[in-house]
Amino acid sequence: MESAEIARRFLRFFEERGHKIVPSASLIAEDPTLLLVNAGMVPFKPYFLGQRRPPGSRLATAQKCVRTPDIEEVGKTTRHATFFQMLGNFSFGDYFKAEVIPFAWELLTRSESDGGFGFPEDRLWATVYLEDDEGYDIWRNKVGLPAERIQRRGLEDNYWHMGVPGPGGPCSEIYYDRGPEYGREGGPIADEDRYLEVWNLVFMQYQLSQVRSKVDFDIAGDLPSKNIDTGMGLERMAAILQGVDNIYEIDTTYKILDKAAELTGTRYGHDPRTDVNLRVIADHVRTGTMLVADGVMPGNEGRGYVLRRILRRSVRNLRLLGSGDERHMHTLTDVAIGVMAEQYPELKADAPQIHGVIDAEEASFLGTLRTGTAIFDVAVEETKRSSHHAISGAQAFQLHDTYGFPIDLTLEMASEQGLKVDEEGFRRLMKEQRERAKADSAAKKTGNADISVFGELLEKAGKVEFLGYDEIESDTSVIGVLVDGVPVPAAGAGSTVEVVLGRTPFYAEGGGQLADQGVIRTAGAEVEIVDVQTPLAGLVVHRGKVRSGEIKVGDEARAEIDLERRRAISRSHSATHLVHRGFKNALGESAAQAGSENSPGRFRFDFTAAGAVPPSVLRDVEDEVNAVLINDLKVNAFYTSQAEARAMGALAMFGEKYGDEVRVVEIGDYSRELCGGTHVHSSGQLGLVKVLGEQSVGAGVRRVEALVGIDAFRFLARESLLVAQLTEQLKVRREELPERIEGIVTRLRAAEKDLDKIRSAQVLQVAGELAAQARDLAGVSAVTHRAPDGTTADDLRKLALDVRGRFPADRPAVIVIAGVPSDRPVVVAAVNEAGRERGLKAGRLVGVAAKALGGGGGGKDDVAQGGGTRPDAIDDALRQVEQAVTEQLG
Ligand code: SER
Repeated sequence: MESAEIARRFLRFFEERGHKIVPSASLIAEDPTLLLVNAGMVPFKPYFLGQRRPPGSRLATAQKCVRTPDIEEVGKTTRHATFFQMLGNFSFGDYFKAEVIPFAWELLTRSESDGGFGFPEDRLWATVYLEDDEGYDIWRNKVGLPAERIQRRGLEDNYWHMGVPGPGGPCSEIYYDRGPEYGREGGPIADEDRYLEVWNLVFMQYQLSQVRSKVDFDIAGDLPSKNIDTGMGLERMAAILQGVDNIYEIDTTYKILDKAAELTGTRYGHDPRTDVNLRVIADHVRTGTMLVADGVMPGNEGRGYVLRRILRRSVRNLRLLGSGDERHMHTLTDVAIGVMAEQYPELKADAPQIHGVIDAEEASFLGTLRTGTAIFDVAVEETKRSSHHAISGAQAFQLHDTYGFPIDLTLEMASEQGLKVDEEGFRRLMKEQRERAKADSAAKKTGNADISVFGELLEKAGKVEFLGYDEIESDTSVIGVLVDGVPVPAAGAGSTVEVVLGRTPFYAEGGGQLADQGVIRTAGAEVEIVDVQTPLAGLVVHRGKVRSGEIKVGDEARAEIDLERRRAISRSHSATHLVHRGFKNALGESAAQAGSENSPGRFRFDFTAAGAVPPSVLRDVEDEVNAVLINDLKVNAFYTSQAEARAMGALAMFGEKYGDEVRVVEIGDYSRELCGGTHVHSSGQLGLVKVLGEQSVGAGVRRVEALVGIDAFRFLARESLLVAQLTEQLKVRREELPERIEGIVTRLRAAEKDLDKIRSAQVLQVAGELAAQARDLAGVSAVTHRAPDGTTADDLRKLALDVRGRFPADRPAVIVIAGVPSDRPVVVAAVNEAGRERGLKAGRLVGVAAKALGGGGGGKDDVAQGGGTRPDAIDDALRQVEQAVTEQLG
């Protein structure tokens, strides 16, 4: 049975039993305590806690999940995956144990032809929590499971919570006996490889306050109602129903694995090490694809780092299979999209963007590997030279930090060289860095506040309503005031504060749009607001300074934004949408937005593109966008469903496309995008858009910067003035300028060349004289000479060689010429063959001179060059060289 069919059956079964089917939420968890959704119930946490009303008392989902704590186990065991799907049915105060257990039994054992999964009854086992007599009784008497196939287990196995404060409760798990060839008799308590857990039924009824470990937590009390949360691993079910040994061989993963084997010319099932590599690739490519599709971008922190690690591990495993610098991620991602699209059709539409992100990360990592490997080799050499057995923690850290080398890569490459790595030192440095970064970002985003403070405020304030689409001034109230991240009842004039309002017209920085600024006034105080952030989804924090009076929690307040700034930012934001559409029109759908920043009068737009964008394309895009301005298209924002927005072809910056309702901003018929930002009313309000140019910001990502409105006009006015000045100076008409300037430049170059020739000739003129004046040092002709300042390094070298060539072959000769081409001294030494036979080495002589000049250098025995920092030491350096010659001649 195919994976997609397993999901369909599960959902249909529960739909027939009164459940509302809810589509999978994004992998990006809304929950501030989690980076990624790691269980089916995560999106429903507020329903369990009674904070929000569920859309029905019975729900069922197939939820995408990512878990990475066991990433090292992937491929080595039969059942560890970083991406998996959890099928679940949920009851919020509706049915409980007595219904959910029989539901599960029925679905598992009902025949396939009858819509079930057709498990033989005698292969199923159940576990219940030690004290759960009720659960035991239902299994034993209501379902009729023999007593010997019901096992009682402790907290470790049969109690479920999120690992953080939240809902929890005892659970009952269902296991499938794969048969004696897979392990020992004796049920799940004896062997969890033979008895595979397929379904976990959680009786969610308590609220946990402190969670110290899986088995050590405090129960704060009962949840508002008794609930059910179940989780069935789709991939494990698929392994059983498809009769394969492990989850990497099921339909959705095997195709990727197979393609990876084909691309790398390896075979699955022949060599255990190759098999692990292939399984890792199959698992990780799928996970990476799903994460990117949900809007995660590779980065160095949080989810971005999870994704980067997964993609880089894929690339590295491909290299371990011998793919070298060949790029296979595109093809593999294609397969992943193909296999997952039956369940997630949006993957097909998003394919160009997904490829854009993954291809760019692959390219950048391959580049990293190339430079990093060179650095790694140096580290190995140093380690061996100093007779150490381990690469230092600092070196491993540098490889990681500067060259993006994952530690496991360093470990592996070191072991190939017979070396170890000081992992402890590495981890210490990593920890220090993380702490620094944490402190930095906390300071930037939240003014040092401990994030839990915001959690409490959010609970108190509820989701803060944003009024700023329609209002620039709003009546509101002060819900919280923080000073140095600590809640205070009031703050007086001069204090730097963070203010939480019940509702606000202030736009918090997000979606590339900079924050509003403005003023919050209460009866007694005025606070100037300079920054607005959302430390937690739904909570808006205004940062600023109390100008006068005292702001108090509970005050009525009036919040007013700086309208000019807002308007200028809105113009930039609308312009960004136009430019986004413009690039897609010009370059194709793979030009996907990878970031943006909308500031007053100026914006920056990053997008995926294979290489530099030619100036002609930039001009076309600019032209098209300005035509849209002139047509003065109406800007319209509305809310609609996810599916509807997609059907309309709305562009999405990944990650903003989930939730039941999405906001679409359309500019006439030209552009349509999911967006939470603020915009102008019609495109004509932008006035003018001027694209300044484009550049690379990392592999596969380009950035354009542009000006909007009066800033664009002023820029063009300045350029125009500049042109006027040039025409005036050069006395030509505007259109003749390029030709005239080209003419001037060509003549200048020719003149410079002539000058160079003359100078060289002059330098060389002295060659004969120098040779004639050579001194005899123990039978060797020695010339030391300081050339006039300004002689180029090239000419110094030519001169040395010219002089050397003037001595007969059997006459040993050494020539040392020094000079100051610009501000630093350079020295060149040349020794002819007869001189070398006498033991003279140019490299050594240059070394002596360069040292005297305060620098370094060296080279071959026949010619060498070096330099230093002290022009005043040239005479001394030449003297030392002569001395060295005498010494070398012994
Ligand atoms: N929350 C439980 C789990 O993750 C059941 O869905 O296993």
